[in-house]
Amino acid sequence: MLKDSYGRVATDLRVSLTDRCNLRCSYCMPPEGLDWLAGPDVLTDDEVVRLLGIAVGLGVTDVRFTGGEPLLRRGLTDIVSRASRLRPRPELSLTTNGIGLGRMAASLRDAGLDRVNVSLDTLDPQRFASLTHRDRLADVLAGLEGAAAAGLNPIKINAVLMRGLNDDEAAPLLRWALEHGYRMRFIEQMPLDAQHGWKRADMVTADEILERLRPEFDLSPVGKRDRGSAPAEEWVVDGGPATVGIIGSVTRPFCAACDRVRITADGQIRNCLFARDEFDLRAALRDGESDHALAERLRSAMWAKKPGHGIDDLGFLQPTRPMSAIGG
Ligand code: 5AD
Ligand code: SF4
Repeated sequence: MLKDSYGRVATDLRVSLTDRCNLRCSYCMPPEGLDWLAGPDVLTDDEVVRLLGIAVGLGVTDVRFTGGEPLLRRGLTDIVSRASRLRPRPELSLTTNGIGLGRMAASLRDAGLDRVNVSLDTLDPQRFASLTHRDRLADVLAGLEGAAAAGLNPIKINAVLMRGLNDDEAAPLLRWALEHGYRMRFIEQMPLDAQHGWKRADMVTADEILERLRPEFDLSPVGKRDRGSAPAEEWVVDGGPATVGIIGSVTRPFCAACDRVRITADGQIRNCLFARDEFDLRAALRDGESDHALAERLRSAMWAKKPGHGIDDLGFLQPTRPMSAIGG
């Protein structure tokens, strides 16, 4: 079991398959991009699959492939297919910006992918281009259609609202998602950008998001008050069955119930998005360590997990790696 010293158990592994991306979202990276990892630094397909097998042996039940942009990883379909043959079979999901998903959705589903989360912050092509520095909204929308046509279900949409940039789109995004059968989720912006430009005052909070939706939708909390380890607070929209999720990572932290662990594309264990320490699995893998020894490394990395992200602490320091290098 992957347990930490506070008694939390990690069952949800997020593995980044590349730190590269074909967008440049301002809350993630600068317009010029970043210094990408060199090819040999990135775990090979075999290394990724081996680590997944070890993690499943330690009780991981959910594997999410992230990036950067995981669709840019050449071996993605093969990795998914090999992961789907692990026993017990983990639930397999993908967090993507959607570009190219139309082309790949059917083969990913056939390989065993269960679900996708697509990041989309605006429905306006010009805004999309200015927020991501790439004029590719049409490609994202085509990717979503392809994912739906391939039968991937549910399709969740993640949006980060930013003050003065797209915070007027909460209701339009939700309406659009309802029309298309996508599950909308709004995420508070976290201090995870490479440029270190995050300011608390610019963050559109979970409360504000609710305020913006309430005039247009009837929202009632989903039955159980206890959201368990699920970060999204779910609201039933207009009597259901559709729901909307609001993820208040900063103002309503779910750290106490966190069940996640991350592995970066270069094989470093991160026991928290906001961790300042990483634990090297790649060197151990390449030194020929046994599965048992690698499992012990994972277990001890988890044991060291801090109780919370500490964004509100006086001495809070943003992690040195941005979201794109950590993996959502
Ligand atoms: N704050 C909140 N969400 C972020 N994401 C990327 N950077 C940030 C940030 N600074 C989101 C993306 C994507 C997921 C991987 O994380 O929009 O949906
Ligand atoms: Fe790419 Fe995701 Fe970062 Fe946007 S948030 S630049 S889609 S890795």
